[in-house]
Amino acid sequence: MTKQIQIAIDGPAAAGKSTIAKKTAELLGYTYVDTGAMYRAITYKAIQLNIDLQDGEKLTKLLDETSIELKPSSRGQIVFLDSEEVTEEIRSEQVTASVSIVAAHANLRKEMVLRQLEMGKNGAIVMDGRDIGTHVLTNAELKVFMSASVEERAKRRFLENQKRGISTNIEILMKEIALRDKMDSEREASPLIKAEDAIFIDTTSLTIEQVSEKIMQLAKERMI
Ligand code: DC
Repeated sequence: MTKQIQIAIDGPAAAGKSTIAKKTAELLGYTYVDTGAMYRAITYKAIQLNIDLQDGEKLTKLLDETSIELKPSSRGQIVFLDSEEVTEEIRSEQVTASVSIVAAHANLRKEMVLRQLEMGKNGAIVMDGRDIGTHVLTNAELKVFMSASVEERAKRRFLENQKRGISTNIEILMKEIALRDKMDSEREASPLIKAEDAIFIDTTSLTIEQVSEKIMQLAKERMI
């Protein structure tokens, strides 16, 4: 019998983590958890309620009284915030530009990690984010750290936006991605870093299929 494992996928914005994590979960019949969506959901709620995004105490209290659910569906993972579906809303430019500020608060992160641990406790899970290998699924059988050049990531985001009917400027995307990298990597609480035991994959010149194949091979080796 094959063993059910935990797979942690970390890396900077737009490195292709969610596409790959989703595909891996699908191929293995595992649960997929997009932890970025959880940080986005609380950011969305805070913006709606006009809460100061610098106020970590208030935001942590807000999270305590907030339910965030991630559910699989035929159109991918859908996100519920206090029972209201917010899958599209949490991808808005306003949320994208603000989420790194919210994700920097240490106590808020502690609560998020507890929720993520609960989701991952039974294994058979693929979780993606920034601190999964270092702070959440620290014993995961497979840890991957994915990255790609800023230019390549901006290009991918540009094409993704184009498909969704959103027109963006590639130069601006590059600046935004570089700024988010900087904020996510330089924050004090659980900064974006590769776990020592994570496998680094540079996806700059690889296709989705090539990365997926590589990860499936690594996963299968660990399922025996
Ligand atoms: O992966 P994403 O772009 O949806 O993530 C949104 C933000 O949330 C990103 O700026 C970093 C933050 N994040 C985090 O700090 N820790 C995680 N585990 C996941 C996301």
